[in-house]
Amino acid sequence: MQPKHYQFSNLAPELSTKMFEDHWKLYEHYVERLNETMAKLSNPYDPERLRSASTASGEWRDIENDKTSLTNSVMLHELFFENVLMPPQSAPMPAGPMFTSLVQSEFPTVKATDFWSHVIKPTAKAARGWCIVGWDTVNSRMDVTMMDGDFGPCLVGLYPILVIDTSEHSYAQQYGIDKGTYLEHIAKSINWSIIEHRVGVIHSASELMRTAIPEQAEDYVRDLLKEQQDDFGFPDEESYNEQGLPPAVGLDSRNEQGISPNPRVQSSVEEDGSGGITLADLEAARDRIKALAKVTFRSEDSMFDEEVHGKSAGFREALWETLREEE
Ligand SMILES: [Fe+2]
Repeated sequence: MQPKHYQFSNLAPELSTKMFEDHWKLYEHYVERLNETMAKLSNPYDPERLRSASTASGEWRDIENDKTSLTNSVMLHELFFENVLMPPQSAPMPAGPMFTSLVQSEFPTVKATDFWSHVIKPTAKAARGWCIVGWDTVNSRMDVTMMDGDFGPCLVGLYPILVIDTSEHSYAQQYGIDKGTYLEHIAKSINWSIIEHRVGVIHSASELMRTAIPEQAEDYVRDLLKEQQDDFGFPDEESYNEQGLPPAVGLDSRNEQGISPNPRVQSSVEEDGSGGITLADLEAARDRIKALAKVTFRSEDSMFDEEVHGKSAGFREALWETLREEE
């Protein structure tokens, strides 16, 4: 991959262009190191590397750790630079309606106008690496989180909406130890149209899944249970319900005796083993597919990368077309 280029003259006037240009050089270095790391992974049968796999130390651990931290670093720097660069000659703008609406619904005890000062800024001040306002795709809720470095701790499945670099290299050159002023100036430089676009991606994926999900969720659950049937020989054909779905069964990992009704859906299974799939099963499958869809649309964030944006938009259009044909 190649490093992306940005016009740092489009920052809020309080922020030093030179500081961001120097910051970009660090990002460029992370891209180079990520490319080197991924090149090492190009041969999965490297005998030396295979032998090195150990929890103690070794090349395998080094490469896996580098892959995670450098991927996070490159991705988060790009998201950060994109969301603090305003359109040329643009004045500071207010938060957009979709982001504001999300804040109001997800943080009902905080006024939307206080969200920066009461939630984002203190989290960013406490963070040693990153502050990320994101959408938790596993639990379907908005969250404001921090990372102390490129490793984490990080919330798995968080789709980034607004990213702030809070490491010392991001502000010390201009602000010394005055992180608070740095964050106040960052607030004036947020490109809220980019933030709206990212929230829009979440809405688009949710809407797509809302309309398309029932059949897909049923297919997903049917395949899942078919695998269980193949693996464990249960249930038999007669116990399929009238929708053609097998009864909800699963392997209880705590029961080494073998198969038992899945405790999560046990209430739907009759004594004779027959029963039907529960709403909880469908909802769980639906949520997982929704999360996957949101991740799929990640590349739409890259508004500065026409090629990536074009590919993503084309993919979405093709997916819609397929769904229309199936209706
Ligand atoms: Fe940084």
